[in-house]
Amino acid sequence: MNIKYRQTIIAGNWKMNTLASGAKSYANALCPLIPGFYAWCNVVICAPFTSIHAVVHAFKGNKVSAGAQNMSEHKSGAYTGEVSGEQLRDIGAEYVIIGHSERRQLYGETDESVNSKILAALEVPLHPILCVGESLEERESGVTTNIVSAQIKNALASVPDSEISRVVVAYEPIWAIGTGKTASPEDAQDTCREIRAVLANLYDAELAQRISILYGGSMNEKNAAELLAQPDIDGGLVGGASLNPTAFAEIINAAKGGL
Ligand code: 13P
Repeated sequence: MNIKYRQTIIAGNWKMNTLASGAKSYANALCPLIPGFYAWCNVVICAPFTSIHAVVHAFKGNKVSAGAQNMSEHKSGAYTGEVSGEQLRDIGAEYVIIGHSERRQLYGETDESVNSKILAALEVPLHPILCVGESLEERESGVTTNIVSAQIKNALASVPDSEISRVVVAYEPIWAIGTGKTASPEDAQDTCREIRAVLANLYDAELAQRISILYGGSMNEKNAAELLAQPDIDGGLVGGASLNPTAFAEIINAAKGGL
């Protein structure tokens, strides 16, 4: 983390878990465990569409933000089953995960559709959390930097200088997601530093210094402090461990080390 330049963000990705009716008890369990957290980080819960409204209400007055896990690239119209950025904003969402590897792998999302969604999110405005990351095969063949750089460049096409600091990048190596295998703090740092270098090339070094880059992939209450201590890792995108308010609180409190 580098709290002088960048916002620390701890975001939970609940994926297709939880019911709207459970949001209040989750908030009641989490809030007492993270007193004063807003002094050191933004906490975001990216809930299923059906729970976002309940999350916003459950955390009212507690400075925890809500987010979605996907959105349409279109503003409105005949797109059965899709949800627009404006609809998300209307129910109180402030963030939206874009291009998660599960969406790329299971639902055919491409760099091109990810780019359209990033532009649509910025227009609403929502903060897009752009996910990038390599497969195990790609890591083992030494092409991580090429893969991640291409994902970043393609996803950010046409994003102007004036908007880029509203984008959050999440580096999520696919092989570390839901597997219990975490990238070592050194490997995660190396890739996050390379991502920042790509951003500096696309924009400039000063703007790149202001973009929060999160790590995601089996982050938990045991490994969070070491990952968050890395200079280019500005927070976490937490899947499984965010479903447990006690574990998620420990991760949020681990980010305090940056203060
Ligand atoms: P896990 O923390 O469960 O590995 O999931 C990470 C992730 O995909 C967050 O978006």
